[in-house]
Amino acid sequence: MRNFKAFGHAIISLFIISLSARCHGQVELDTAPMEKAERDALFSTIQGFVGNWWNGSDLYPDPCGWTPIQGVSCDLFDGFWYVTVLNIGPIHENSLRCAKNLEFRPHLFELKHLKSLSLFKCFKSQRRHQVTIPNANWENLAGSLESLEFRSNTGLVGKIPSSFGILKKLQSLVLLENSLTGEIPPDIGNLNKLKRLVLAENNFSGHIPDIFSALGDLLILDLSRNSLSGSLPLTLGCLTSLLKLDVSNNHLEGNLLKEFAYLKNLTLLDLGNNRFSGGLTLSIQEMYSLEEMVLSKNAIGGDINTLKWENLHNLVSLDLSNMGLKGEIPESILELKRLRFLGLGDNNLTGNLSPKLSTLPCLNALYVSGNNLAGELKFSMEFYGKMGTRFGAWNNPNLCYPLEVLPTSHVPFGVKPCQQEIKLVESNTNAGNVNKTFHSTASSGLMSHDPNDFWWTFPLIMLLILNSYIGL
Ligand SMILES: *[C@@H]1O[C@H](CO)[C@@H](O)[C@H](O)[C@H]1NC(C)=O
Ligand SMILES: *[C@@H]1O[C@H](CO)[C@@H](O)[C@H](O)[C@H]1NC(C)=O
Ligand SMILES: *[C@@H]1O[C@H](CO)[C@@H](O)[C@H](O)[C@H]1NC(C)=O
Ligand SMILES: *[C@@H]1O[C@H](CO)[C@@H](O)[C@H](O)[C@H]1NC(C)=O
Ligand SMILES: *[C@@H]1O[C@H](CO)[C@@H](O)[C@H](O)[C@H]1NC(C)=O
Repeated sequence: MRNFKAFGHAIISLFIISLSARCHGQVELDTAPMEKAERDALFSTIQGFVGNWWNGSDLYPDPCGWTPIQGVSCDLFDGFWYVTVLNIGPIHENSLRCAKNLEFRPHLFELKHLKSLSLFKCFKSQRRHQVTIPNANWENLAGSLESLEFRSNTGLVGKIPSSFGILKKLQSLVLLENSLTGEIPPDIGNLNKLKRLVLAENNFSGHIPDIFSALGDLLILDLSRNSLSGSLPLTLGCLTSLLKLDVSNNHLEGNLLKEFAYLKNLTLLDLGNNRFSGGLTLSIQEMYSLEEMVLSKNAIGGDINTLKWENLHNLVSLDLSNMGLKGEIPESILELKRLRFLGLGDNNLTGNLSPKLSTLPCLNALYVSGNNLAGELKFSMEFYGKMGTRFGAWNNPNLCYPLEVLPTSHVPFGVKPCQQEIKLVESNTNAGNVNKTFHSTASSGLMSHDPNDFWWTFPLIMLLILNSYIGL
């Protein structure tokens, strides 16, 4: 029994050792030492964020070894533990949560091997306790910091410190959904290792600085949902590796850039809900990798046929709604075999809606409402059935659907039935059997297939026919 117990202990010890080996990449049979200064800096930094009740030396005497703290990771440098990752905020159940009156303590900048700092849902109270990002001391982290992320901190106000420009090792700068304001500091352009720059959902204003010439490694640029104005900077064309560009929901204006043509790897372009103008530039059709393109809610104008849409054969989602586009819906869109979403609503498109659109194998949402499309919809019943409410064609005054082919459940919403030929056989006239064809107008009140109703509606129908002749 005793032996068994000892054996059990050995197993558990081995297990713990292997765990720590897995975490830190090195088997440490003894606890590696941690400098007191490093440990105190860690405790004080955390205490600043989570409150003074939190006593690290009591709770976590060996924070990089046997008593790890959720959200803190360490690495060995010259045989000593140093903190490399610090995540504060409710990510896991046992994560450190922020206090109401939290502060950035200067001790943060003593964690000289810190690679990654993240504060999530920390600064919450927007009115009572506002916190700004400290301006000083970031140079202490310049040799190590690779990732800086402040996300969903509504009480985090003020500007981006220009001193961020010194963080030369930074690969990811994410300041998402805070209450930051002011202009984007041009110093960000020094961060030439950046792969991800996300400043979305704050209230940044002013122009987007023309700072991208040295940021050729950037993969993700998201400046959406701010109050940015002015035109797009030309150096965006230097971002040849870029995969995602989102500047939607700002007040940006001016033409679409010719330099877009250099963004050959771009998969997402979202310029939606701005004030861009000047028509569709040809550079757009050079972005061969695009899978998702949103240009909607801009007065861009021009003819939709300006572009060779077939070039963008990777497109999965294309939103061109509310752009003031004119022209007929181009046949070349039928070449976009991967298309799932096509939004063309609220433009001034004319012509017919080709039933060939239903041959796009992946299409499951098609919106053409609010245009000047005309003629008869010629989609099959299966198509309407498959699309359901994801087919929108209302507000096209001259568009109609053929009544007889559709059960009412498949009738496209807001589209009226077409003028229809009703064939009637009369057998009680003097001349014997007279076979007349009457035209009845598309109007649900007058629609009737019951010959008994015919004599009641006849004068009305004649009136309408007369009316349409006079109209000609
Ligand atoms: C933490 O607790 C220890 C012992 O209980 C105490 O000596 C120390 O001052 C406390 N530290 C803080 C920062 O409160
Ligand atoms: C954002 O900033 C602009 C001025 O730069 C201001 O007019 C606007 O009210 C702000 N919006 C919010 C939601 O704070
Ligand atoms: C674009 O993507 C391809 C394939 O992923 C890659 O080989 C190439 O290096 C990328 N181009 C740039 C400029 O990053
Ligand atoms: C749409 O185009 C027609 C014909 O070109 C034109 O008469 C009409 O004014 C345009 N409507 C809008 C809203 O631009
Ligand atoms: C009425 O005309 C149609 C063709 O317009 C013809 O198919 C049909 O046989 C005719 N019926 C009679 C009773 O003459």
